[in-house]
Amino acid sequence: MRKLVAGNWKMNGTGTSLAELEALKNSLAQSACDILVCPPATLIARAHWAIKGAFPLGGQDCSSKTSGAFTGDISAAMLKDAGAASVILGHSERRQYHGETDAQVAEKAKAAWAAGLTTIICVGESDGERQANKQNSICHGQITGSVPKGATAANTAIAYEPVWAIGTGKTPTNDEIVQMHAHLRSCLTESLGEGAKGMRILYGGSVNPSNAEQILNLAEVDGALVGGASLKAADFLKIIAAVRPH
Ligand code: PGA
Repeated sequence: MRKLVAGNWKMNGTGTSLAELEALKNSLAQSACDILVCPPATLIARAHWAIKGAFPLGGQDCSSKTSGAFTGDISAAMLKDAGAASVILGHSERRQYHGETDAQVAEKAKAAWAAGLTTIICVGESDGERQANKQNSICHGQITGSVPKGATAANTAIAYEPVWAIGTGKTPTNDEIVQMHAHLRSCLTESLGEGAKGMRILYGGSVNPSNAEQILNLAEVDGALVGGASLKAADFLKIIAAVRPH
């Protein structure tokens, strides 16, 4: 399985930021991993033209509805039309600031697949939940509730993003990452059976050029979802280069 390094720009970037994508395009030698960049929705179409298919682009959220009176929402078909191939769903910032539930994330995933997008479905425990040693049950519940039947390695990747590691510079130890990824693998097999085979499980939360090598080369880690360090091509390229060919 090729690893996937995905960048999540969150609510960062205007037209001038397209230069970072062009720099990325020009420096992508034969990388040992797959790459995806998820800029804000307003930039997807321009990014699509700018990079001329050099790597796939994704959205950061989509509606579970196909069209209609949903002011401010963006459908999966709209993302696809703009040039996206994928969409991040159930990010902790969506869950936290927009009250998204597991059931809503699952509906969004079905809408994304129906529009021809692949999905990255995010799960992860909060600081308090980790302190209380509840991370396994929390993530089990999120996998069961947010990853619908029909998820396969071809249409879905999972991102394990402990909330306390996002944007904080803190990361779990390698052992904690390995344990959680193994746990998520067994949750996926329990709920999806054969469908879970080969599904990528990415790690996300404060991945940067200094820690990428040790995290990305763990056998249980099938890639990374990178926030802050994906905004500058130079940093993101270092993370991509940290993936060892195998
Ligand atoms: P971070 O964000 O790399 O800035 O911690 C990761 C994410 O939220 O996807």
